[in-house]
Amino acid sequence: MNPLFTIFMVLFPIFLLIKGRKSSKKLPPGSLGIPIIGHSLQLLKAMRTNTAEKWLLERIQKYGSISMLTLFGKPTVFIYGKEANKFVFTSDSSTISYSQTKNYVGKMDEEVRMHMEMHWQGKQEITVLPLMKKLSFDVICSLLFGIERGRSRRDKLVTWFQQMIGGIWSVPINLPFTRFNRGLRASVRVRNFLMDLIAEKRMELRKGCWLTKALILTRTSSLRDQNNGEEMTEKEIVDNVILVLTAGHDTSAILITFLIRDLSMEPSIYAVVLQEHEEIAKSKSKGELLTWEDLGKMKYTWKVALEALRMFPPIFGGFRKAVKDIEYDGYIIPEGWQIFWTMNMTHMDDSIFTEPSKFDPTRFDNQASIPPYSFIGFGAGPRMCPGYEFAKTEALHPCACICDIWFLAT
Ligand code: HEM
Repeated sequence: MNPLFTIFMVLFPIFLLIKGRKSSKKLPPGSLGIPIIGHSLQLLKAMRTNTAEKWLLERIQKYGSISMLTLFGKPTVFIYGKEANKFVFTSDSSTISYSQTKNYVGKMDEEVRMHMEMHWQGKQEITVLPLMKKLSFDVICSLLFGIERGRSRRDKLVTWFQQMIGGIWSVPINLPFTRFNRGLRASVRVRNFLMDLIAEKRMELRKGCWLTKALILTRTSSLRDQNNGEEMTEKEIVDNVILVLTAGHDTSAILITFLIRDLSMEPSIYAVVLQEHEEIAKSKSKGELLTWEDLGKMKYTWKVALEALRMFPPIFGGFRKAVKDIEYDGYIIPEGWQIFWTMNMTHMDDSIFTEPSKFDPTRFDNQASIPPYSFIGFGAGPRMCPGYEFAKTEALHPCACICDIWFLAT
């Protein structure tokens, strides 16, 4: 690591701490810990041992619903609860929704069926998560970026991509043997790969898919305004592609994995799902692909998916950055600090969801009855997940295929 950068990273949190203390408002309780490393190792260890919620609960018991710490090299304020979610999700102004997903239902069905035939049918035992990661990566590559199957390009990209994600969730120490360093090297490879891909896509822009067009033509800080039409720089496009890949890959894979697990563990729920899919299958001829209208009929299946998302959200939480000093809940969050929010803690709050550990899809019968900012599986407010419809489509397709496989097998 560059020595000047190291000195900066050591002194910066101390400077912020002193600056914050001089202010008339007080900083949240807690400590920043050792510079750079702070509490990252503790959180990462807790995440790897599946005890991250416990770790955060202990923090909440000790400091209350707002506290300061250092995560991934940056001074951070952790906030928790419905009000905290509202604060995080409404403190931004851009908007988006991807409505073109319906154009891709048939193509997605093809990808899913092919995947099922190759990896599921006839198998006595399979490990679901890696397969679902492969499926969601294949779906995104094929549908959104037009990287077709049968080329080793997808395999290379997925390996580098996983290493890059590993680097994001690591302590930012850039030495040759660290995860962070491997992540940085992988990120250069991913970027070079995408540069080549973009050059290719520019050539075939006219026949490109809607997202390829949006990614290349829209010069905005987010993907939200697809009508602007001004061409983006290569770097902006690469950033956007990486954002979509990062946001849409593991999330969908984890949701589908838990959905399958929950269906296998809840026979009465599976029976209702199966019935729903049998009804749809009856209206179709053999081999006919699913349509957008078919997905609309999978109402109960989607409630099961939402309940899986409530109990086992693929996204643990996220970060925002304070662009100026912000007062929140009687404390100051200094400019430049991170704000750390989490999802599972609100989802498992028994003052919001009765018997939160019970798997009960009927909670979503009347979604309007769920208080705002309490179910935040896809985020909320202006930056709510733009991949919502895509993720829904991705989750419902394998369910239909799995119902087919299990139904045929019994
Ligand atoms: C089950 C699957 C998914 C879940 C649970 C999920 C969840 C979320 C959540 C909670 C956020 C908000 C994060 C924040 O506010 O900081 C988000 C943002 C985002 N998601 Fe998803 N997502 C899923 C699938 C997808 C897919 C398939 C795509 C793309 C095809 C996608 C693209 C995005 C993008 C680009 C953002 C950033 C939006 C912005 O910052 O304005 N997501 N997602």
